[in-house]
Amino acid sequence: MMKIMVCGKGGCGKSTIAALLAKAMANRGYRVLVIDSDESNFGLHRQLGMELPDDLMNYFGGKKVILERMRSSFQNPNAKSGPPKIEIFDEMWTLDDIPREYLVEKNGIMLLAVGKIHEFGEGCACAMGVLSTGMLEHLKVAAKEVVIIDTDAGVEHFGRGVEQGCDIVLVVMDPTFESLMLSKKIDELAGSIKKPVYFILNKVDDESRQVMLASVDEDRIAGIIPVNNDVFRAGLTGKELDVCLPEIDELINVLGGEKGGK
Ligand SMILES: Nc1ncnc2c1ncn2[C@@H]1O[C@H](COP(=O)(O)OP(=O)(O)OP(=O)(O)O)[C@@H](O)[C@H]1O
Ligand SMILES: [Mg+2]
Repeated sequence: MMKIMVCGKGGCGKSTIAALLAKAMANRGYRVLVIDSDESNFGLHRQLGMELPDDLMNYFGGKKVILERMRSSFQNPNAKSGPPKIEIFDEMWTLDDIPREYLVEKNGIMLLAVGKIHEFGEGCACAMGVLSTGMLEHLKVAAKEVVIIDTDAGVEHFGRGVEQGCDIVLVVMDPTFESLMLSKKIDELAGSIKKPVYFILNKVDDESRQVMLASVDEDRIAGIIPVNNDVFRAGLTGKELDVCLPEIDELINVLGGEKGGK
């Protein structure tokens, strides 16, 4: 069906929305792949009630190997400007081509982690960005399959081109000034991204609702999710998200409409 990229500022609820969406889509019979491309957070697998899989980065020889290839590509005098492009994937992958030892599966959801920073001082995450970009561009999804990408905080992925392999961008906003500013920035970027961009207003209450509604284009709001005590409690205790929100069902309908259920 489609590849959905979830982004937004730190702590706005990206992983929560990604996990809730994955579970709701699996319940509807979709085969779901969740890609954890956030190198520094370790929460998503818990929200899904799953173990953290081994980094896909290791399948390609590990971070050092990818970094070395990036370095060589930088030094290549024929290289085009922009983020380094190295060919990690020789061919397109279907969901069945992903090596099983790098996936954890449960209840119709497969979880893949691109690469985590496991040790303090491990340094830059750009190898993860390059691998995420390559992976998304080379993943083919069939009907009744969906890929959900949980990203790290901010909008840097846009600069790295991670969004190029996606079909739709979901921007999660929480009731903070920073989120509102970021949504404006993404709105400006949206034209150049050439991908449909939708906003999810999250952690909304009576006080924040109007301010948040006024800050984004109404037609592109794909969901308004209130502060939810069960979600909050799961976040506090590190437990699996076992919550069904009607707003997530509505979101699935919006996504289905965008692609005509393709
Ligand atoms: N609608 C909601 N109601 C109550 N709490 C929420 C809601 N959405 C998210 N939270 C809580 O907010 C916190 C941050 O959520 P989450 O980890 O999903 O954000 P994130 O954007 O993925 O953060 P990071 O940038 O660190 O990856 C969590 O404790 C989560 O339980
Ligand atoms: Mg997160």
